[in-house]
This record gives sequence, structure tokens and C-alpha cells, in this order.
Amino acid sequence: MDSNIGRIVVGEAELQAMVKTLGRRITDDYQGRPPLLVGVLKGAFVFMSDLARAIELPVEFDFMAVSSYGSATRTSGVVRILKDLDLDLTGRHVLIVEDIVDSGLTLAYLRKNLAARGPASLEVCTLLLKEGLQKTEPDLRYIGFTIPPAFVVGYGLDVGERYRNLPYIAEYAGSGRG
Ligand code: IMP
Ligand code: MG
Repeated sequence: MDSNIGRIVVGEAELQAMVKTLGRRITDDYQGRPPLLVGVLKGAFVFMSDLARAIELPVEFDFMAVSSYGSATRTSGVVRILKDLDLDLTGRHVLIVEDIVDSGLTLAYLRKNLAARGPASLEVCTLLLKEGLQKTEPDLRYIGFTIPPAFVVGYGLDVGERYRNLPYIAEYAGSGRG
């Protein structure tokens, strides 16, 4: 066991059960208008992969990579697009898939940016929401778990690119955040 891995915040079984629940809700809500899932790299790729397989609709995928300006641990809200989408969003039912919403600044930027591209609808599904840290009121259609404001890793979330492959979410007990 890695000593940098602290308390388990969401276990593997709990995660998988929530993914199934979210998949069912999305399947019900998007009948007749299959969504285009937009994953925010890299963190969302594990969740998006499981979530997509829990949705019984002909979904399509696209990915975007962004980086926040500012210090390593605090996002400033100024976001740079490192990889843009391949697909045109005009008339599409876009569902942004996020791993975690912390300050909400990254998401606020993404929402505004994608809304300007003429989608038929734009909603957000986040696996995790950190309690009470949002600087702007995030408009989140689907939330997996609300968690205390500690730094967490696993299931896509990293510290310096490590721990993304853990099948559960745990507090990071090491020093620094990579
Ligand atoms: P926000 O703009 O403050 O909401 O930051 C969102 C991004 O910061 C997420 O998409 C993650 O990449 C990263 N992040 C925020 N909190 C954590 C955490 O606890 N562990 C790992 N990454 C995190
Ligand atoms: Mg990260």
C-alpha cells in the first residue's frame, strides 16, 4: 500500500453503483435526443468510459484538454484550450463530463465557451463536487458525490500524473500536489 494514499472517500463498489444510476438517469432524460459526451481531459477519461457504457443510447464522444493559468493548486479561472473539440456542436445535445468541480472556475469557462457554439442543449455531469468551494454558482445537472474539501486522487484524478488508475477515490496524504 502506498503511504501517500489516505482515507478512501468513495469506494469501488459505491462508484460503480453511482455510475450505473447516472447512466440510467441520462438514458431516461435523453430519449430521442442522444447526447454528445464532451470529456475534459485528462481527469474525466476513466469516469467517461464507464459512464458511456452505462448509457443505453447511441452517444458520441469528443474530448477537450484545458489548462488553468495560475498556481499549481489554485485555478485562477483563466483557462487555456490545449486541445479543442473535433466536432461541431451546432444543434447537438452536449453533455460535459467532468471528474471534479472544485472552485467551479474551469467549468464556468467551458460552459461559456461551448454555449457560444450553438448547441441545442448544454448540461454538465460531474462525478464529484467539493463542498462549499465554488466561486460561482455551478449549474450541474448530474452530480455523483459531494465530498469534503480535501485533495483527492484515483479514478482519473491525479497528483503529478499518478494514481489515475486507482479504482476508488482516496484522499491524498502526501506532501504537495505534484
Ligand atoms: P476548478 O476550476 O477549481 O473547479 O478545478 C477543476 C479541476 O482541478 C479539475 O478538473 C481537476 O483537474 C483539478 N482538481 C480539483 N480538485 C482536485 C482534486 O482534489 N484532485 C485532483 N484534481 C483536482
Ligand atoms: Mg489534474
